[in-house]
Amino acid sequence: MGEDLRFPDGFLFGTAASATQVEGHCAQSDWAAFAREPGRVRGGDTPDDACDQLHRFREDVALQARLCMGAHRLSIEWARVEREPGEFDPATWDHYRDVLGAHRDAGITPMVTVHHVTLPRWVAQRAACSRRICRRSSRASPSAPSRRSATCASSGSPSTSRNMLALQAHLLGVWPPARSSPVEAVRAHQNLFRAHAAMYRAMHEAAGRRGHSISVGVAHHLRVIEPERFGRLADRMWAALFERLFNDAFARAVCDSGLHDFFGVNYYSRDLVRFSAAHARAGFLRRLVPEGAEVSDLGWEIYPEGLGYVLDAWWPRARVPIYITENGIADADDDQRPRFLVRHLAEVARAIERGVDVRGYMHWSLLDGFEWAEGYAPRFGLVEVDRVTQERSPRPSAELYARIARARRIEARRPGAARGAKRGAAPA
Ligand code: BGC
Repeated sequence: MGEDLRFPDGFLFGTAASATQVEGHCAQSDWAAFAREPGRVRGGDTPDDACDQLHRFREDVALQARLCMGAHRLSIEWARVEREPGEFDPATWDHYRDVLGAHRDAGITPMVTVHHVTLPRWVAQRAACSRRICRRSSRASPSAPSRRSATCASSGSPSTSRNMLALQAHLLGVWPPARSSPVEAVRAHQNLFRAHAAMYRAMHEAAGRRGHSISVGVAHHLRVIEPERFGRLADRMWAALFERLFNDAFARAVCDSGLHDFFGVNYYSRDLVRFSAAHARAGFLRRLVPEGAEVSDLGWEIYPEGLGYVLDAWWPRARVPIYITENGIADADDDQRPRFLVRHLAEVARAIERGVDVRGYMHWSLLDGFEWAEGYAPRFGLVEVDRVTQERSPRPSAELYARIARARRIEARRPGAARGAKRGAAPA
């Protein structure tokens, strides 16, 4: 890095989180029930208390402000808002109004995710009872989310995250409803797009009725996907198939339909894809990291260049402003995060120099939260959370991020390699 890299005026530096992962105290969600089933979540962890943000949001907003954050992506917990079908809880709306107001008062732009992974239990139960695929993936059914989004349209600029849900819940079976069916995963994708289209329209209509302007987009998880062994046709075919289903299907449908005012990119890592007869339940797909590559605490490859590739690939297709809606690392001792942060932000700054219209970067995450099937073990937070006392302690990377956000630039001095960095093992 020869010269300082600068970010344009108005570029938003922020953080991202989802309700279930940080709020706590929502017994009505499908994840609260799922986490209680033996063997579902590592260590038997549950989202019951999470980071107790339900009660501590003002403290967390103050922390974001101290760290010079200009934006925060958060989600609305549907199970809390609509506890029973058609019964919207006024106290919960007041709560979310307070949360959004606290952000605005602190000069932090809230970005609202309408649906982040979880469902109310009653939706999940209905789906399970129906025994019909399209109803089973009623997380993907357009009617209910659009009803809710119409209600919350005035709150901000919602976005939705979809392909990861179809993969984890309907193919790998590690999230509820814990299904392993390629057919169902494809079906879920299609339904999720219908849900997105319905939500997009409902939110614009609701905002229009109130005379509000609103920006509605997607937060789409994109990975760099390559065949593990270029010489093997099966690996090349499976990499292409995974690319098509995971990266392309939903996002292409959104881009082609024009039903998006911005395009959110969730970027974490690269997958080397191997066709594996032993992985029939996962669609014969095995995902690996290159031997010797630096990896996070979760064994995910650290591959910042991939963010640049993804931005270059999707900017011409998206044709709307782009936000990095998630990018982060599980790194409990914070010895990799500073370099991870700088290298990924540098990719964003360079992409902007190349003409890609990136308007903001939301780091995943502000706090150490509930990491779904992995429980609380992975530490994604810029801010460490004590699991017993809930005390928040900013890690060195949080202070580094604050300095970059304040200066709106990355200094030319390259941060050194992480000492004792974790490396990927040779595939078996
Ligand atoms: C999800 C988050 C999750 C993160 C790290 C994202 O795709 O939206 O909920 O915590 O990945 O695993």
